[in-house]
Amino acid sequence: MIEFNCLTLFPEMFSSFTGTSICKRAIEAGHVEISLIDFREYTTDKHRRVDDYPFGGGAGMLIGPQSVFDCMEAVKEKTAGKKVRTIYMSPSGKTLDSAMVRRLASYDAVNILCGHYEGVDQRIIDELIDEEVSIGDYVLTGGELPAMVLMDSVMRYVDGVLGNGESVVSESHGEGGLLEYPQYTRPADFRGLKVPEVLLSGHHAKILAWQRERAIEKTVRVRPDLIKKASLTKKERDYAESLLRKSENTEE
Ligand code: ADE
Repeated sequence: MIEFNCLTLFPEMFSSFTGTSICKRAIEAGHVEISLIDFREYTTDKHRRVDDYPFGGGAGMLIGPQSVFDCMEAVKEKTAGKKVRTIYMSPSGKTLDSAMVRRLASYDAVNILCGHYEGVDQRIIDELIDEEVSIGDYVLTGGELPAMVLMDSVMRYVDGVLGNGESVVSESHGEGGLLEYPQYTRPADFRGLKVPEVLLSGHHAKILAWQRERAIEKTVRVRPDLIKKASLTKKERDYAESLLRKSENTEE
């Protein structure tokens, strides 16, 4: 069971995420709880404003401390005594990866602040936030989509959320650190496009060996940076290195 408390000015952005597919099922089954909290509700400003001009000038508006501090204090009261992590979604954070996802899945509660406009007052980050998390080297208009990416990836590691316990093991970026091998379903021949013979053979060991080889090849081709950290046997490492050398030679 994991609890997400998401502080956002746009809670309505989350409705298709929380109301569809695996996320919806996980909430209904009690494996995941998602509270969407509009921190504008906490503003003491008579015009309900939460943002203001940055000191020192500069483009755009910043979210000020008052509404976020008051809202986060209420959330922290709600999560008191739990193992909790508080995150700010931001393009200047550490990039989300599968190690971070797995680590976050071990918390009882994850509080997520979604920014908007040009960002938030630094005192929010200094006082309330444990870590800033980015979903990649590009800038979005707000932290809502990144927050959904984070929740989606984290909840997959929470017990009971996925039906088949296997699927987080052999997938891309799984424990082995390789990308996923190609998969096929029926028909075995679609418009003359044939499924690799070995997969129809019923020979389990041969199939596993074929899948490992394809996963290594794909990883070398698409994400050579992942190979170094992948857990490979001596024979597999030799194979990966021969492929790497080959691709380096053809690049020149
Ligand atoms: N907010 C805007 N861009 C973002 C990004 N790339 N990652 C996380 N939060 C963001």
